[in-house]
Amino acid sequence: MCGIVGYIGQREAKELLLDGLKKLEYRGYDSAGIAVLQRGALQVKRAVGRLENLCAATGDGELSGTVGIGHTRWATHGAPSVENSHPHCNEAGTIAVVHNGIIENHEELKTFLMEKGYRFRSETDTEVIPHLIDFYYQGELLEAVQKAARQMKGSYAVCVMHVQHPEQIVAARKDSPLIVGLGQDENFVASDIPAVLKETRDVYLLEDGEFAVVTANDVNLYDVEKKPIQRSVYHVTFDENAAEKDGYDHFMLKEIFEQPQAIRETLRGCVAPGQPVVFDGVDYQDIAHIREIFIVACGTAYHAGLVGKNVIERLTNIPVDVDIASEFRYRHPIIDKDTLLVVISQSGETADTLAALRLAQRRGCRVLAVTNVVGSTIAREADHVFYTHAGPEIAVASTKAYTTQLIALYGLALFLAEHKGTLSEAECEMVKQEMLQLPELTAQVLESAESLHTLADKFLQENDIFYLGRGLDHAVAMEGSLKLKEISYIHSESYAGGELKHGPIALIEEGTVVIAVSTNERLRGKMESNVKEVVTRGAYVLGILTEGFPESVFDDVFYLPEVNPLFAPVLAILPLQLLSYYIAVGKGCDVDKPRNLAKSVTVE
Ligand code: G6P
Repeated sequence: MCGIVGYIGQREAKELLLDGLKKLEYRGYDSAGIAVLQRGALQVKRAVGRLENLCAATGDGELSGTVGIGHTRWATHGAPSVENSHPHCNEAGTIAVVHNGIIENHEELKTFLMEKGYRFRSETDTEVIPHLIDFYYQGELLEAVQKAARQMKGSYAVCVMHVQHPEQIVAARKDSPLIVGLGQDENFVASDIPAVLKETRDVYLLEDGEFAVVTANDVNLYDVEKKPIQRSVYHVTFDENAAEKDGYDHFMLKEIFEQPQAIRETLRGCVAPGQPVVFDGVDYQDIAHIREIFIVACGTAYHAGLVGKNVIERLTNIPVDVDIASEFRYRHPIIDKDTLLVVISQSGETADTLAALRLAQRRGCRVLAVTNVVGSTIAREADHVFYTHAGPEIAVASTKAYTTQLIALYGLALFLAEHKGTLSEAECEMVKQEMLQLPELTAQVLESAESLHTLADKFLQENDIFYLGRGLDHAVAMEGSLKLKEISYIHSESYAGGELKHGPIALIEEGTVVIAVSTNERLRGKMESNVKEVVTRGAYVLGILTEGFPESVFDDVFYLPEVNPLFAPVLAILPLQLLSYYIAVGKGCDVDKPRNLAKSVTVE
């Protein structure tokens, strides 16, 4: 949530800041702003809406200077307006601050500052920061930022500039990601690596409670007591071009079509022809004592966890519980050293998932992270990390991250099953062979994309669409329904087929659209009965079926190639992703940046 950037060097800061913000827009796009130090004064420009509005508002020659900070906002406290946009300044306009996170005690701090005569112009929690720094400032910027930080509760990544210190930017981090990009006679600060990748591949990854004093020629890191910290340089190896659209209309479409390759890459971390099953990042001896597994995640990653539960229980007989991270952290989970906590997070930065990880570690659990982002906070704090190799996922609606998370969970299930002996050698080999077919099979499904375009056109006027499934198909239906509502704004719900009659069927009327996923021979008859129940009440039903299932009860069908039902989720989600995509495009929605959402949710 919210992206921050900073630049200090010899070049014009404005273009570099705007370029950096472009790469961070996935973190929020309600408004944007930059501040540049120009001839000893702070020049600030802010604009509501997408970054392009800010670009249009900062004409040639304006905001000229070689030190600056910038921000792209996902609104939490206060509506998206110019006044609430960052950077925020003190009253004298000598200090500028950009912030990602939430200052939870901002009301208390505001009262304190108002009693001292400070006046506020915005509704944000952030505005307390420049005033607090102003309050503590006695000629040394780092010291003032540290004193302010001691008062602040909640989470923050901040960049601070002061007109009396044109030679430095001070940055600080607590529970929100922050990196420093290292250049030649110039340095950068950012929420995330892609923002600096065009300029440098060498970065410092800041840890919680750390402060950075960044000048053009130097970067010094300190703890809160001002004790210097030594940090080794992290060299980024991933490709900047992977974050480009490559001729596709949208990142989401590109990412959907990248799935065969992403799955292939991720499979390498667990299964390979003729090799024993491994699970990158885990030595079996470290988890051999585990008696139960807890999977904790948010959003799409949680839906992957639901599939994981089903598969791990089936293959290993280890009981698995799945929870939404924001629920898990505030209830009373029964976990201890015999529990393996698996956290799943594409970004590796989701605040609730990170809090769940920390809670579990305090209780003595081993934590295994499944994440897509190397060096992310979750990856750094977990005891074991399995990386999905989806490559950068830019579209807010997750697609290839989901299918690679499924692969990771299949890999974990098979790894445990092989070691525990819950599957015979021959069974393990068979499952492994089937997994290795998945890149091929996903490519095959994606070849039928055009037929989904035509189907999608039928649904453009719908207000509600229902998804049904049983077992693993239900988990897929949940993810399909989420995709639709996220990007097309059509109201949608998903139900377990057998639950329909316990309430939701009251919503079915003539013409209601229902999408039924049915990929398991064992549950096919039951699912057909559920479909008949809605057809009788006038529903139109689209079936997502495995080849060979009869189409008789459906109005339209999309067939998937034959596959072991265990792996059907990897294939069944593809038509649902594409359908959502084509519906959203047909409705003229901003597919890659849906309203009110952000890709990386680093606040509670
Ligand atoms: C946000 C994104 C979702 C994502 C969820 C969890 O809500 O919009 O697409 O599934 O966060 O993110 P994570 O990075 O932890 O997988």
